[in-house]
Amino acid sequence: MTRQLFVTTALPYANAAFHLGHIMEYIQADIWVRHQRMMGNAVHFVCADDAHGAPIMIAAEKANLTPQQFVAQIASGRKQYLDGFHISFDNWHSTDGAENHELSQDIYRKLKAAGFIASKVIEQFYDPVKNMFLADRYIKGECPKCHAKDQYGDSCEVCSAVYSPTELINPYSVLTGAVPVMKSSEHFFFKLSDPKCVAFLREWAIDGNRLQSEVANKAREWLDGEDGLGDWDISRDAPYFGIEIPDQPGKYFYVWLDAPVGYLASLKNYFNKIGRDFDAFMADPATEQIHFIGKDITYFHTLFWPAMLKFSGYKTPDRVYAHGFVTVSGEKMSKSRGTGISPLKYLDIGMNPEWLRYYLAAKLNAKVEDIDFSAEDFTARINSDLIGKFVNIASRAAGFISKRFNGQVNTLWATDTDSFLTSIRSIAPEIQALYEGREYGKALRAIMEQADIINAYVDANKPWILAKDPANDAALQEVCSRLLEAFRILTLYLKPVLPEVAAQVESWLNIAPMQWSDVATTLPNGHTIKPYQHLLTRVEPSIFEALFDAPTAPVAEDSAEKAASANIEELSAEISIDDFTKIDLRIAKIIDCVAVEGSTKLLQLTLDIGDGRTRNVFSGIKSAYQPEQLIGKLTVMVANLAPRKMKFGVSEGMVLAASASDEKANPGLYILEPWPGAVPGMRVS
Ligand code: MSP
Ligand code: ZN
Repeated sequence: MTRQLFVTTALPYANAAFHLGHIMEYIQADIWVRHQRMMGNAVHFVCADDAHGAPIMIAAEKANLTPQQFVAQIASGRKQYLDGFHISFDNWHSTDGAENHELSQDIYRKLKAAGFIASKVIEQFYDPVKNMFLADRYIKGECPKCHAKDQYGDSCEVCSAVYSPTELINPYSVLTGAVPVMKSSEHFFFKLSDPKCVAFLREWAIDGNRLQSEVANKAREWLDGEDGLGDWDISRDAPYFGIEIPDQPGKYFYVWLDAPVGYLASLKNYFNKIGRDFDAFMADPATEQIHFIGKDITYFHTLFWPAMLKFSGYKTPDRVYAHGFVTVSGEKMSKSRGTGISPLKYLDIGMNPEWLRYYLAAKLNAKVEDIDFSAEDFTARINSDLIGKFVNIASRAAGFISKRFNGQVNTLWATDTDSFLTSIRSIAPEIQALYEGREYGKALRAIMEQADIINAYVDANKPWILAKDPANDAALQEVCSRLLEAFRILTLYLKPVLPEVAAQVESWLNIAPMQWSDVATTLPNGHTIKPYQHLLTRVEPSIFEALFDAPTAPVAEDSAEKAASANIEELSAEISIDDFTKIDLRIAKIIDCVAVEGSTKLLQLTLDIGDGRTRNVFSGIKSAYQPEQLIGKLTVMVANLAPRKMKFGVSEGMVLAASASDEKANPGLYILEPWPGAVPGMRVS
């Protein structure tokens, strides 16, 4: 019986390009999906951008774009990665799409009607400058335990203390530097603590045998924890980029409410395109709903999501498959530290996407374990397995069949029952079960064991020796034909991992795209193959020098950098540290900014460095900034510069900006802005 599968990967936040972790997840799921398709099962494999939430709203604001424009820009960059790594999604959508608005609101209405929504007034920090409630990550201050400065609102990175933002000493808003005030607001809650819900989750997550054991154990801890499950706050106040809560003006769904609904929305969007009935598909008991996710988001997928679906009357997920994290050379990937591998760079420098698919597959299993990307390991794995064992078989046999036998195979021996081919075929159910169980590493090991057996056959029968005497022609053709048949079966086994190589082999062997059942067939006697073309190249270890370089900069920045580099000023004469400390640099907040009438160059800035008075500064940056762009921003000023009388008034200091030495050829001017967390008055040293 064929299965009817609805498969998803986690919806990536739409505020950044993909990193290796995303690509790993897609490859893991894609291998599973391709294997199911080869089995003849019907698979609908979808994903979408996770568009909503405060971070995306703020990032869009910084980029001077609407959130919709911002998200669209990120979305437009997705295809090159997905195509590049042969990820076979049927659809890619966005959680800001119409389907998601409708479905999320529908689920909420049904939860409400079933009595699972409560409301409560809560007090929360509020940024009085930005007029916005502040999530914990937007509040910093001094740790109440160890007094480390600039710690986040929920926990201290220095002493690991966990606290609530109200306990921070001298809290400030990361967004504006303002002192947050307490403000109350009505919030909506999903009643996870309802005994019906707890009973359901216990069955779904623990007793039902749906989850990996590590994940089920976590769920048990959460369910049996001291206070059990708390109700889940699902609302956020405007301004927020999200979906409005029905009948509650100014209230939006918290992004994690509508994000998983995006799975359904993407499927619905796809079904609308291909003219299929979404409701009927979801109502069909035969439909299996399967989510591939990373270990960091199991809470959302094993508690919130099934409960939301259950009590709104939707189908609940059949499986949630969690994977571990990818580390690079033993280190956690970090974009800010630049230690990640850019998947786009990987492709740009000509590394083969199927090397990565094979390498990751070789390391993956069904557990929630982290996997490390290491250059040596990668090189060894590809060169010894794929090139040394797998491709070797084809290259040993192909030439003789083409040159000596007009490309024709002889498979009259195919009725043998003791052939080594019988044993190669016999592992098909085992390989299939390993793919099904996401034990890709084991599957590839079993396949490579067969490759070893085939290579031993090559060594035992030595086609290059047989070829020396035309009297051996019949034997040569048989040996090589057996090798091609064996190679065909190995390729079939590897096809979920190496779809492009498999397509090349199918074209070379002149056969239709292979399904899993083709393991039992044989190339017909007299079948003609095409001339052999190189399938895969070896990994040259030197390629990693290019891969591990600093991450590729976006094109615009890149070219700006190049233009400016032609134009670097000579360094000034050396100074002592004392010379430097004479300059008092301070973080300044631009509280006002206007154009100076009668000047084509100057902007007049009003700066606050936290000492209870403001400073008036004229700055020649009019060509680069609109006054409104600068108001509210932080920058760096020289605070102890002697006041200078200018045509338009007295300038009490100077703000710092970068420019090329030849301003005519390279007119850009770039005002300095500190990283979030700096506050007016801090000394820069
Ligand atoms: N937007 C949420 C998911 C919503 S699902 C309804 C999110 N996005 S994410 O972009 O941060 O992560 C997307 C997926 O990538 C998650 O499954 C996450 O676990 C995975 N990974 C993020 N970093 C990873 C690694 N370093 N390694 C492997 N997977 C990683 O979470
Ligand atoms: Zn601390």
